[in-house]
Amino acid sequence: MLYRLARPAIFQLDPEKAHDLTIKTLSRFHHTPLRFLYSQHLPPRPVTVMGLHFTNPVGLAAGLDKNGECIEAFGAMGFGFVEVGTVTPRAQPGNDKPRLFRLKAAEGIINRMGFNNHGVEALIENVKQAKNFTGVLGINIGKNKDTPIEQGTDDYIACMQKVYPYADYIAVNISSPNTPGLRSLQYGNIFDELLSALKKEQGQLAETHGKYVPLAVKIAPDLSCDEIQHVADSLVRHNIDGVIATNTTLERSLVDGMPHYREAGGLSGRPVQLKSTEVIRQLHRALNGAMPIIGVGGIDSVTAAREKLEAGADLVQLYSGLIYQGPGLVKQIVRHI
Ligand SMILES: Cc1cc2nc3c(=O)[nH]c(=O)nc-3n(C[C@H](O)[C@H](O)[C@H](O)COP(=O)(O)O)c2cc1C
Repeated sequence: MLYRLARPAIFQLDPEKAHDLTIKTLSRFHHTPLRFLYSQHLPPRPVTVMGLHFTNPVGLAAGLDKNGECIEAFGAMGFGFVEVGTVTPRAQPGNDKPRLFRLKAAEGIINRMGFNNHGVEALIENVKQAKNFTGVLGINIGKNKDTPIEQGTDDYIACMQKVYPYADYIAVNISSPNTPGLRSLQYGNIFDELLSALKKEQGQLAETHGKYVPLAVKIAPDLSCDEIQHVADSLVRHNIDGVIATNTTLERSLVDGMPHYREAGGLSGRPVQLKSTEVIRQLHRALNGAMPIIGVGGIDSVTAAREKLEAGADLVQLYSGLIYQGPGLVKQIVRHI
């Protein structure tokens, strides 16, 4: 309700300014009584996935809180889990602005942020501050833009070593369209080599820290049926703990002719909804229950969340839906699924 009143004013702002202001406001308000403005008490809907206990299956998708500055605030909104990042080993500015566009008529967003973030050390400091967060924390890791793709594995391993003690699960992002070459990590030998290195490192870190932190790989919606089958086979072969489907799409067919539709980057929100559900359905078939699926892409209603779960997702995440509808969407979904 409050968000509906505030939205026209927020949407008057440049999208990235609105985003930055929201993050700043949430992180400041959270230590004041003003947190009542977005706090919600939701009924418990407990689920256990990847060996982790979730109070409800609705999470915040990666990219909204890249530096982990508002973990407690998103927890107070009622999310059962919060995925922060994508974080890279070193801080980087991301692509030139403007790099974030609203496609209002379609309730879509195009972004080419390019992993703008303060680096893994800064994220960890923020995670340490979020002592009152009781949900499940995912930390999404990536590679720096200036790291050659052949050395990408080193960046993932470096992030993994740093975040391992603080994460409940680690999400491996190989599907952003905004880091040149990143998506090539989803195919062939390079994919197998990356998974093998991550799994080996996970084994060593589990011994060092005396805890097992599951690894979930995040994939693109723009994979063919054969490619989905190959991805699934590799994930199973390497004993990966979960898969997140999907990231943003390069396709523009559903937004053809709308303002900004030609902007480069990944499209999210309602226009990716059916496409990502279809990927989840195919992945579910290909995996045959071997590992859980976290479904994300265009969830804007209880029905859309149900469709993801019926297609085979065990958990769901939101990003664009939250921008267009506010925290009330989390409440609706948790209440009615
Ligand atoms: C502005 C923006 C930034 C994003 N940044 C990231 C990111 O850093 N890492 C990532 O894995 N996904 C990122 N995503 C993708 C989302 O996590 C999600 O997979 C995608 O937007 C589809 O979900 P949605 O339709 O609910 O937004 C980003 C999405 C948007 C809109």
